[in-house]
Amino acid sequence: EKGDYRHFMQKEIFEQPTVVAQTLRSYLRPGEQRVALPQMDFDITAINRITLVACGTSYYAGLVAKYWFEQFARVPVDIDFASEFRYREPILPEGGLALFISQSGETADTLAALRHCREQGQTIAAVVNVPTSSMAREADLLLPTHAGPEIGVASTKAFTCQLAVLAALAAHFAVKKGLMDREEEAEVVEHLLEAPACLNAALDHDEEIKEMAHLIAPARDVLYLGRGADFPLALEGALKLKEISYIHAEGYASGEMKHGPIALIDDKVPVITLAPSGPLFEKTVSNMQEVQARGGQVVLISDRKGIEAAGEGCMATIEMPKVHPLIAPLVYAVPVQLLAYHVAVAKGTDVDQPRNLAKSVTVE
Ligand code: M6R
Repeated sequence: EKGDYRHFMQKEIFEQPTVVAQTLRSYLRPGEQRVALPQMDFDITAINRITLVACGTSYYAGLVAKYWFEQFARVPVDIDFASEFRYREPILPEGGLALFISQSGETADTLAALRHCREQGQTIAAVVNVPTSSMAREADLLLPTHAGPEIGVASTKAFTCQLAVLAALAAHFAVKKGLMDREEEAEVVEHLLEAPACLNAALDHDEEIKEMAHLIAPARDVLYLGRGADFPLALEGALKLKEISYIHAEGYASGEMKHGPIALIDDKVPVITLAPSGPLFEKTVSNMQEVQARGGQVVLISDRKGIEAAGEGCMATIEMPKVHPLIAPLVYAVPVQLLAYHVAVAKGTDVDQPRNLAKSVTVE
């Protein structure tokens, strides 16, 4: 079933261009350059707040989506880990939309949060990969990801497919609210449709990332930095590395470094910086340079322009294709997944079945 691949995780990383394209096909009408969400039996324009709930990698997809919902649809998003949400007595708005994200559709805390929101009269939407799951059945609005079965415990293709669905949903919301005109909608559709080719271009760096795994494998701690919609990618990169290579890793919003974490920096802590060209590039790079000034060993992940501008003095660089900021979180997921994968392989861990973890967490 793994074909030519050594692990399911590796196979699933490489499936991303195909499954993201597949997922986008059911949420976009390319010919007309329109977003096309399933029929909703509620008035989306009446929604004045979204409550977003998930766990793990699905939570990080939600965190990216928060940036999109707020930027495009100007709707405030309240997001929480399902295990926190359940017990913090959240205040839910009348007629609000509660959005749940889950690969398995069976995660115990997320499912309990969904049922709680249903009892509270919220409209329930769910972005789910397993179509026969409890969450898929119980949602008012089911937004399936078409990633196909994900076997590796570390979630990869489900994450990028979740992002694809959430980007389309945010755009749909903006269109319905009259905040995105035809031309802007066409542009968003065009950028989303560029994602599969850009994911392929990112995958072309597999060999190079494999070769740099030895720089990270001996580390005891690794930091990941990002800003804006790429900040959740820093969290996701750290989670991937932790769960399959057992190296302690943390993701930070790069602007937070000087508020504490920079004290950790010495020449033994690799710092992976995610900095695509775009409005936040300069800011992220200046935080990265503060790290370098303290002896930090940086791996810069950026496009050619970014690497030309800031790559000097880095321990290594990984060149991504130049992408529109909207799809950067999808494309930059690839190098963080590959880096975690190759470091884990270099360390000889059980990549598909890491210790202490289950694919689906059906107990709280
Ligand atoms: O099936 P779900 O998306 O609800 O699962 C949520 C988390 O358990 C899951 O994303 C977990 O964090 C992964 N192992 C991360 O790679």
